Amino acid sequence: MTPHTSVAGIDPRVILISRVGVDDLRPALGCFNDSDAVTPNLDSLARASTIFTRSYSQQALCAPSRNSFLTSRRPDSLYLYDTHSYWRVTAGNYTTIPQHLKNHGYTTASFGKIFHPGIASNYNDDSPWSWSEPPFHPSTLKYKNAKVCLDDSGALGKNLVCPVDPELQPEGTLPDLQTTDAASKYLNTYNNSSPFFIAVGYHKPHIPLKFPREFLKFHNLDKISHPHPKLWPEKVSFVSWNPWTDLRERDDVEKLNLTFPFQPMPENFAQVIRQHYFAAVTYIDRQIGELIQTLKSLRLMENTIIVVVGDHGWSLGEHSEWAKYSNFEKSVRVPLIIYDPDLSHRADNRENAGSFVRDDLVELVDIFPTLNDLVALPKMPACKKVDFSPLCTEGRSLAPLLYSQERVEHWRTAAFSQYPRPNDFPQTNSDQPRLRDVKFMGYTARTDKLRFTWWIRFQDLTPNWNTTEGEELYDHTIDPAEEFNLAYRPEFKNVKDSLKDLIKRQFSR
Ligand SMILES: *[C@@H]1O[C@H](CO)[C@@H](O)[C@H](O)[C@H]1NC(C)=O
Ligand SMILES: *[C@@H]1O[C@H](CO)[C@@H](O)[C@H](O)[C@H]1NC(C)=O
Ligand SMILES: *[C@@H]1O[C@H](CO)[C@@H](O)[C@H](O)[C@H]1NC(C)=O
Ligand SMILES: *[C@@H]1O[C@H](CO)[C@@H](O)[C@H](O)[C@H]1NC(C)=O
Repeated sequence: MTPHTSVAGIDPRVILISRVGVDDLRPALGCFNDSDAVTPNLDSLARASTIFTRSYSQQALCAPSRNSFLTSRRPDSLYLYDTHSYWRVTAGNYTTIPQHLKNHGYTTASFGKIFHPGIASNYNDDSPWSWSEPPFHPSTLKYKNAKVCLDDSGALGKNLVCPVDPELQPEGTLPDLQTTDAASKYLNTYNNSSPFFIAVGYHKPHIPLKFPREFLKFHNLDKISHPHPKLWPEKVSFVSWNPWTDLRERDDVEKLNLTFPFQPMPENFAQVIRQHYFAAVTYIDRQIGELIQTLKSLRLMENTIIVVVGDHGWSLGEHSEWAKYSNFEKSVRVPLIIYDPDLSHRADNRENAGSFVRDDLVELVDIFPTLNDLVALPKMPACKKVDFSPLCTEGRSLAPLLYSQERVEHWRTAAFSQYPRPNDFPQTNSDQPRLRDVKFMGYTARTDKLRFTWWIRFQDLTPNWNTTEGEELYDHTIDPAEEFNLAYRPEFKNVKDSLKDLIKRQFSR
């Protein structure tokens, strides 16, 4: 399918692969038809790429999601639902995407946030296994919680909403600006003959929403759309509610004196948060634009595969919810854009040249086998039900879907995600329970038309399929915003039972 010819697994041409990860980015992009977004650089990349409109993260939290897609194993296989364990020690010695490429002759380099920091990546971004050289982290990251955000009264705070003048910040810059500089510099001076894999991970639009003030000019507060639906759906149990504890810890939110866990964000402030989220996305779009400019100036766009992906979504006031930490579509759906120069010529042979848009159900565990195929390495074996082998995939290669509009027969019927809870009623650790505190698990299946979420008891790392703490069923053909829970309507009992079987087949061991 691809014109690559491989010798000993290494493509004879120099290939650079750039995997750009973006933290907490939902598909708030122009190329995903979000009318609040201003993202000219990603839109332009997308016009030469394949974009996947229904891509789902396996868990809406950074460390579990990243470790899952970097190893192509689900959180249930890694026993990793929090940020407090390292899979090689607690689950199995599983190979990562960069490690696999490194084993096949690539030079691999990490810039910014790729692995979640701390114990989740052994305090060293899984070095030396994943990387050929020490990962780059921006020096200004340490000011993440510093009181550097100027508010209307002229006071400095540790705010959620934090547009700044970078030159007035400590060290005169911001983390993602440093990451772009470091990655561009690396590209400009790379003179090794081996192909390489560069992973660039941006911190924004993760909170705090700290970014250069100039990006606000693209987002007029009066024009920002309102969240829909605004209210928590009827008949949805509270085990499903994530109390966005991390937002409450910022000074500007704390000042609002909101009662925990349900008092909604005041409407005017909610709009301000939305405005700043979209501005932070425009800022990241500019960073990615600069990287692409570097690739172009080095004439590397002709042999560079680019994957742009978010680690999970983010609620922006929908259902009165904020942040990730849930199983709603807004939390688990992510943007995924894949550019492959070897295939992109197919785009030129069409009348309405532009993105190839695929709506197949895609999971982030698919990225590993996809990249493997695009660089023409031997096929990755599918993982068995319980599989401790170092290299296998729980996903499927997307290569047959790229730059194509053909229906693919026998594609998957559902994309799966999950989220743990410590209690059936929201408490301060409900967003991020430690592994030992997990008592409930919400398993969710997104089929072509439906999303079904089943909250059950979970003890000793084992789901108890005979329990039900909550059920949600949304019909996306008429209710894409997940406003009406149909799970309690008797006429949906059979549908629900078959979706429960689907979840059990997927997750029982
Ligand atoms: C955006 O909207 C256009 C026009 O309706 C449609 O053709 C295209 O597929 C949409 N793109 C995405 C990513 O949904
Ligand atoms: C994990 O695998 C690597 C090779 O991929 C090996 O060098 C290392 O010793 C293994 N670690 C453990 C703890 O088994
Ligand atoms: C390659 O880069 C290294 C530093 O990264 C430099 O020391 C060396 O001289 C360069 N070699 C060539 C041939 O440009
Ligand atoms: C919030 O509570 C504090 C102390 O309880 C009080 O001083 C302050 O005026 C309250 N602020 C608002 C906006 O209600």
